[in-house]
Amino acid sequence: MIQMRVVKTIKEVRDQVSAWKNEGLSIGFVPTMGYLHEGHQSLIRKSAEQNDRTVVSVFVNPIQFGPNEDLEAYPRDLERDKAAVEEAGGDLIFHPEPSEMYPGHFTSFIDTTETTELLCGAVRPIHFRGVCTVVGKLFNIVLPDRAYFGQKDAQQLATIRRFVRDLNFPVEVIACPIVRESDGLAKSSRNTYLSPVERQAATILSKSLMKGKEAIENGERDAKKVIDIITASLQSEPLARIDYVEVVDFENIQRVERIAGETLVAIAVYIGKTRLIDNFVIKL
Ligand code: PAF
Repeated sequence: MIQMRVVKTIKEVRDQVSAWKNEGLSIGFVPTMGYLHEGHQSLIRKSAEQNDRTVVSVFVNPIQFGPNEDLEAYPRDLERDKAAVEEAGGDLIFHPEPSEMYPGHFTSFIDTTETTELLCGAVRPIHFRGVCTVVGKLFNIVLPDRAYFGQKDAQQLATIRRFVRDLNFPVEVIACPIVRESDGLAKSSRNTYLSPVERQAATILSKSLMKGKEAIENGERDAKKVIDIITASLQSEPLARIDYVEVVDFENIQRVERIAGETLVAIAVYIGKTRLIDNFVIKL
């Protein structure tokens, strides 16, 4: 057990990681935007189990937020994050300033196609370019053996898998299951935006997905029928406003008519002003 450290510069991360690599230690990496919850901690725990050292980045990445999104409001609390990383077994937090990651005149991006056309990519045009660029930069800074991502952000996971494969990043991407509250709501840093009444209403996301999943388990293979079941259930909640309900193949994130193979059923729903996402993956 070593003392967990927080560093702010790329050089400090590189020096620490190369010292660990010189000792023959393996490196796991968990990229985050902070305000950590048990979902993030499950990724850190998995990394600590599978690697000698775990690096966690805490960085609210400005280039993945659109002009009218919640960059300024996004919750931040480094002291709380330090305790969460330490408790879950992380060894190093990389907490850079935006100017460390994006010094002036930044003009290079990782821009993916196909997996980012639908779902969140359709309604958040620059989001995945920002995510892939920062994750690619972080991979080049940390040089991890393995990197851990939650299935809660399923399109992000599919897209990162794709650019890692397409661009030959030497890192193994490990997917980890969604962590939920006891009433089914998927854990998210954005859940803190919900008022008590909205928090109650937000359970409609997981309840509606369960109905879709049950239908598939009972033999339904028509994607449109599954979408209709989930949509009707979401519409029963007056505070919910649907952004999308989609059934896609999990590898390419393209719509399917018939459900077969590994299929992602994903939703995005506004509860009041808060946009929440949730999903399940089913393998037939
Ligand atoms: O999933 C997130 O929190 C972010 O998109 C990530 C991967 C840390 C990149 O900023």
